[in-house]
Amino acid sequence: MSGNKNIQKFRGEVSREDRENIHGHRAAVFWFTGLSGSGKSTIAHAVEKELFDDLMRVYVFDGDNVRHGLCADLSFAPTARTENIRRISEVAKLFVENSTVCLCAFISPLLSDRQMAREIIGDNDFYEIFVTCPLEVCEERDVKGFYKMAREGKIKNYTGISAPYEAPENPDLIVETDKETLEESVTRVKEFILQKVKI
Ligand code: ADX
Repeated sequence: MSGNKNIQKFRGEVSREDRENIHGHRAAVFWFTGLSGSGKSTIAHAVEKELFDDLMRVYVFDGDNVRHGLCADLSFAPTARTENIRRISEVAKLFVENSTVCLCAFISPLLSDRQMAREIIGDNDFYEIFVTCPLEVCEERDVKGFYKMAREGKIKNYTGISAPYEAPENPDLIVETDKETLEESVTRVKEFILQKVKI
């Protein structure tokens, strides 16, 4: 979608850098991708709590929340998923301008959609975290009962069952949730983030 040519950006007097200096850390987007039930949201929320307790500005965006509001009108058809990722990326970009560390937890199954997110947010501010777990394990966990419904054909376009998931080719961090404990994953993600946002 193209921007409106008759609108110019207004440059405020408070820069992103000013805000980052006040808060004592850089801002960036940490984009968690993986199958439903792989652990993206659980890890992102646990990391958020730890960073928040360390007095950092941090915020989780996740599919289950965003799809109730900002993206409530979107289905799981491919074009709607692309629009979901586009909107989230634009909002996360604003949060970065506001010096917030953004933890975005979305299946975001397509390489091209994640590439679009990287382009919207900017290469310097975008880190991809691949939360991986075999489909069988996600299906066994079936936290929401959606895999069962997808197998029964009651939910269409379900990622991993009736819709594709394209694994990242070169993620910045890989978290294998069937091999490590939640605490181990949280610690690794947190350390990775701290190293990237330190001033
Ligand atoms: S994304 O593919 O557009 O990135 P998103 O992360 O926002 O997906 O939402 C995924 C969540 O929506 C899943 O955790 C699951 O609870 C729910 N969901 C409902 N229908 C589907 C579906 N067809 N495919 C995947 N997830 C679905």
